[in-house]
Amino acid sequence: MCGIVGVVGSKNATDILIQGLQKLEYRGYDSAGIFVADKNGNQNLVKAVGRISALQEKIGIEVNGSSGIGHTRWATHGKPSEVNAHPHVSASFRFVLVHNGVIENFKELKEKYLASDKFVGETDTEIVVHLIGKLIEEENLSVVEGFQKALKLIEGSFAFALMDKKNPEVIYVAKNKSPLLIGLGDGYNMVCSDAMAMIRETNRFLEIHDGEMVIVRKDAVEIIDTDGVTRKREPYIAKLDLSDIGKGTYPYYMLKEIDEQPAVMRKIMQEYMSEDSPHQMKVDQEILEAVVKADRIYIIAAGTSSHAGWAAKAFFEQMTQTPVEVCLSSEFGYNIPLLSQNPLFIYISQSGETADSRQVLVKMKELGCKALTITNVPGSTLSREADYTLLLHASPEIAVASTKAYTAQIAVMAVLAKAVGEYIENSTARSFNLIKELSLVANAIEALLTEKELIEQKVAKHLQDTRNAFYIGRGADYYASMEAALKLKEISYIQCEGFAAGELKHGTIALIEEGTPVQALISNQEIASHTRGNVMEVVSRGAKVLTIVSQDCAQADDDLVVQTVHPFLTCIAMVVPTQLVAYYATLQRGLDVDKPRNLAKSVTVE
Ligand code: F6R
Repeated sequence: MCGIVGVVGSKNATDILIQGLQKLEYRGYDSAGIFVADKNGNQNLVKAVGRISALQEKIGIEVNGSSGIGHTRWATHGKPSEVNAHPHVSASFRFVLVHNGVIENFKELKEKYLASDKFVGETDTEIVVHLIGKLIEEENLSVVEGFQKALKLIEGSFAFALMDKKNPEVIYVAKNKSPLLIGLGDGYNMVCSDAMAMIRETNRFLEIHDGEMVIVRKDAVEIIDTDGVTRKREPYIAKLDLSDIGKGTYPYYMLKEIDEQPAVMRKIMQEYMSEDSPHQMKVDQEILEAVVKADRIYIIAAGTSSHAGWAAKAFFEQMTQTPVEVCLSSEFGYNIPLLSQNPLFIYISQSGETADSRQVLVKMKELGCKALTITNVPGSTLSREADYTLLLHASPEIAVASTKAYTAQIAVMAVLAKAVGEYIENSTARSFNLIKELSLVANAIEALLTEKELIEQKVAKHLQDTRNAFYIGRGADYYASMEAALKLKEISYIQCEGFAAGELKHGTIALIEEGTPVQALISNQEIASHTRGNVMEVVSRGAKVLTIVSQDCAQADDDLVVQTVHPFLTCIAMVVPTQLVAYYATLQRGLDVDKPRNLAKSVTVE
């Protein structure tokens, strides 16, 4: 979603801003802009619709300076257009603002304080910068006073970076619910919504907490809390490697990330294996106790991460002997079910920034419920605000379509379930050798990755020119089907449903007609014959079927065979070929695999 960058005191602000915005491209956006200034009055605002490359084409040599702010916008209020792109300026053109988030009371603010102002676009951000300008200029306030006064009137989520053209050596920032960090450079300082944007410049970052305002100068950073008191805070070192965020020799991040999955499985084993015994897992005692104390686990997640929750539910219940509910975060917060006496909430989130999940975390913490976050991003909002964190160790995931994070999420849930099961001496967990089983999963994925050509050919025949398709499966294969369908639809734009194979005949089979592509996932011997029966039902109605099956269920005419893995981990192995199906279907349609339309990597608005 929207991204913010800013720098003060650098020799080449334009370059730093553009490089920073490029690093944020993966998050999804539809327009971009920068404001660059120096103390001699050279000041330029440039915006463009589309990619950063379109913005770069508009940047001439006059656009240079020592400070500036930049933004990638993912449209919420107003369509993607140059006037709606950030930065926005105040009525007198003195103040320049970029914003991530959504201002909920923007209409009220406009009517109450800015009735006579003219606006060029439709964004909530333009209203905020007009408000800040008005308060400062009409009430003769300092920038800090005026900004603080505006912040008190604003409701919603925001990360702001504000500049005053009269004093462009300072960036004023503030946040509530939306992520924002300060990057500390040598003789210059930076602002960014994601450490990745500035990792080329520094690995030293300062957190900003909700409600704080920060005044950033080239040689000083002042944090002011909600009571106006200056706060001291130690920087942290971001453990991000520049090479982790490059594409290497791959044409797309998605393919690189699919290929990284065996290595991620092995990294998870290495990170969580106990030094005392290779059969035991190393998880903090307080996390184990929190799970053991709970009478019910609520997994809260969105999209792919919620599918990982479904994939983990059955084994988590079996190993921990605790019932698990999997809930969509966008629904849960506004439709809270009757909670058990002593629940534990597990938030699964690749980015650790998903606003829908965070609103649940905030509400549940108010009710006194403990929170464990499972995330790929150390220091992310969901990680900071939870009581406990378990990391995915999957290295940054850049492609919008999540692949390695999904498989890592299931593996880390298995680590936790196994560790808890050992702790409570549950026999299912004790007899489950997770390290051996994850090694087999890594091998199975590796074998699948050698089948790319075959998958590409099958996909060309199976999904060519179709507008819709189905994945079907039963049990764990149903959960894998939900994920497989999401992957296909989000990047290839083929409308695809992941369906419980047995449920088709209760209505949806009406959609099957001559040539409808159906992909069947079959990895459980006990119910394989039922799913095969459902395959026959759709074939009789004209569907063309592609079967993806585990070795122990395979028949001679199956299309893709996956090495058999432990039933607890079958979703990991079964989803990998479907990731490749989505990848090749998208390539064959000539679409940008990594940047599907309308989507953002990190969804920081509710
Ligand atoms: C799909 C995808 C999304 C995310 C969802 C939650 O490929 O990536 O469905 O899974 O937006 O994001 P996180 O996991 O960052 O909370």
